[in-house]
Amino acid sequence: MQFQILPSLLAADFGHLADDIVRAEASGAEALHLDIMDAHFVPNLSFGPDVVALSRKVAPNFYRHVHLMMTRPDLYLEPFAKAGAQTIQIHVEADCDIHAELARIQAMGIRPALVLNPETAAEMVFPYLGECDEVLVMTVHPGYGGQKFIADCCPKITAIRAQAAKLGRPDFDVMVDGGINGETGPQAAAAGANQFVAGSYLFKQVDMGAAVQALRASCAAAYVG
Ligand code: DX5
Ligand code: ZN
Repeated sequence: MQFQILPSLLAADFGHLADDIVRAEASGAEALHLDIMDAHFVPNLSFGPDVVALSRKVAPNFYRHVHLMMTRPDLYLEPFAKAGAQTIQIHVEADCDIHAELARIQAMGIRPALVLNPETAAEMVFPYLGECDEVLVMTVHPGYGGQKFIADCCPKITAIRAQAAKLGRPDFDVMVDGGINGETGPQAAAAGANQFVAGSYLFKQVDMGAAVQALRASCAAAYVG
């Protein structure tokens, strides 16, 4: 199993965005997590394709992982593809044809992924597990960084991991996002998560590289798949 740590750019210093993208890449993290909010699906606005393009410009080899917290992600796939998104995550709760949009993401040569909110049952993503490569289980209500990890979401990680294995995909990626730190990351790993988004925890570190390494090691040690 591959374990990945993804710093969320939402927690960066927006006055020094380019420097913080470079800092996140230099930490040894596997990918940059870019949170796109539309002030409709979630009660906040973040940034758009220009910031994805900025990350490609300043760190071309740092994998760009785009999380669309949008009611109509289908209307914005092209601009994010053009800006350099390499994975696109859409929410299962979005107001669009999920089967069709996952297929469209795939056809653009981008890795398709699905996300579910804390109040959404694991079974809601089961019909799509053959059509995407990764499911993100939100461990906070999306919209803001710096919230507290909701441990009640962990059984859903286990359920999705088990269902993917049943479908013959033991290496399916199950990701968590929200409130991840040195304590909660291993809790999610013990439930079956192998990819970990962390915003405020990583960006507040003086030595982000050491924190990324320690988080990856403690999650790998705690993993139960
Ligand atoms: C929440 C976002 C997260 C957020 C995580 O709406 O999807 O990616 O940036 O931030 P932390 O790690 O601070 O909870
Ligand atoms: Zn996110």
